[in-house]
Amino acid sequence: MNNIRLRPLKLGDAPKMAELADNEKVSINLRDGFPNPYTLKDAEEFIKQFGQHKQMKVFAIEYNGQYAGNIGLHIEGDVYRKSAEIGYFIGEPFWNKGIMTEAVNQIVQYGFKNLDIVRIHTGIFEYNKASQRVLEKCGFKKEAVFEKAIFKNNQLWKEVRYALLKPEQNI
Ligand SMILES: CC(C)(COP(=O)(O)OP(=O)(O)OC[C@H]1O[C@@H](n2cnc3c(N)ncnc32)[C@H](O)[C@@H]1OP(=O)(O)O)[C@@H](O)C(=O)NCCC(=O)NCCS
Repeated sequence: MNNIRLRPLKLGDAPKMAELADNEKVSINLRDGFPNPYTLKDAEEFIKQFGQHKQMKVFAIEYNGQYAGNIGLHIEGDVYRKSAEIGYFIGEPFWNKGIMTEAVNQIVQYGFKNLDIVRIHTGIFEYNKASQRVLEKCGFKKEAVFEKAIFKNNQLWKEVRYALLKPEQNI
């Protein structure tokens, strides 16, 4: 879908980012480092810190020219340096339009073409069926379920781990 594109984050995205991120239906699916409530200052600090970061490649997701959310790859270190962790969110008004599936496909292509990595992976909280479906639609393999790995909102949850390998002919 060509009405969805990834572009660098800019400071001007902060008000919309804060508005869309300040939603418990978003934060419930993310690590506690993702603030709730989410303020304009949180958004500005995030953009300043990660807008141009060597190990964190974060992009704005644009839908029909509007900022809709973020997607990023975190290149890992030490013996994990050929791997990147993927992370993303879009605002609730944009859900279930196929936007994240397209954004994941675009960042995967970017990552395997431009970064020195062979594996993109992440862990999803067991109740986040939409995110699991997105990764399955993008060809990620469910590799494992980690029992009681997540402690979110005072409760233990399983973590479902997904990964996608770079096609071998490109390695
Ligand atoms: C999860 C999230 C990224 C999905 O983005 P999106 O743009 O709505 O995803 P898409 O429209 O591309 O695909 C969603 C798929 O999940 C399905 N889905 C949605 N809710 C579902 C549910 N409760 N149970 C099962 N499937 C569900 C949709 O039907 C769709 O699948 P389909 O195309 O086979 O019909 C978005 O809801 C979000 O940002 N949530 C908050 C933050 C978050 O969860 N980030 C990821 C952390 S791992």
